[in-house]
Amino acid sequence: MTNIAVFASGSGSNFEAIQQSIERGELQANIALVVTDKPGAYVETRAAKFNIPVLALSPKSFDTKAAYEQAIVDELRARDIEWVVLAGYMRLVSETLLTAYASKIVNIHPSLLPSFPGKDAIGQALAHGVKVTGVTVHFVDEGMDTGPIIAQTAVDVVEGDRAQTEAAIHKAEHALYTVALQQLFAGKVEAK
Ligand code: GRF
Repeated sequence: MTNIAVFASGSGSNFEAIQQSIERGELQANIALVVTDKPGAYVETRAAKFNIPVLALSPKSFDTKAAYEQAIVDELRARDIEWVVLAGYMRLVSETLLTAYASKIVNIHPSLLPSFPGKDAIGQALAHGVKVTGVTVHFVDEGMDTGPIIAQTAVDVVEGDRAQTEAAIHKAEHALYTVALQQLFAGKVEAK
């Protein structure tokens, strides 16, 4: 079984969707750890429901980003974690994690990259007036949502209704992440 860690900074709906896919037998993996950089984030409550351990570390309590990431890497190694799955982790990953988990870190982003990277991708897309947006799963590199693309789904914008558009995007995220992860863990996607 593939041991994974899910990293999240907020609500954790993608974490919960991945865990539910695992429980339904759609994804052969085990979430061995949830990592959050925001102690107290709602993802902790969701993890507790499934008895999944949480590592909650505030980067502010470390002298450097390298020290913060090394503390995470030590914990990932101790738990035999093979893949790092970012799901609403609102922080750039840097050298320490990227080296320790080379080609083993993936992210989900609520736009059709390379359009609208960074924060509030949905708001950026709506402000631009696009009619179709979507969701991207990609490998993580040192850039902001710049790594090689693994999978994408298009989502129609519901004009004048941000809430409905957002709901459709989140639904697409939850479905796409499971499919993309299953292909990755089965070795069907070349790690770049
Ligand atoms: C998702 O839209 C994800 O694509 C983005 O942040 C959001 C996290 O949502 N990077 P949640 O915490 O999984 O509910």
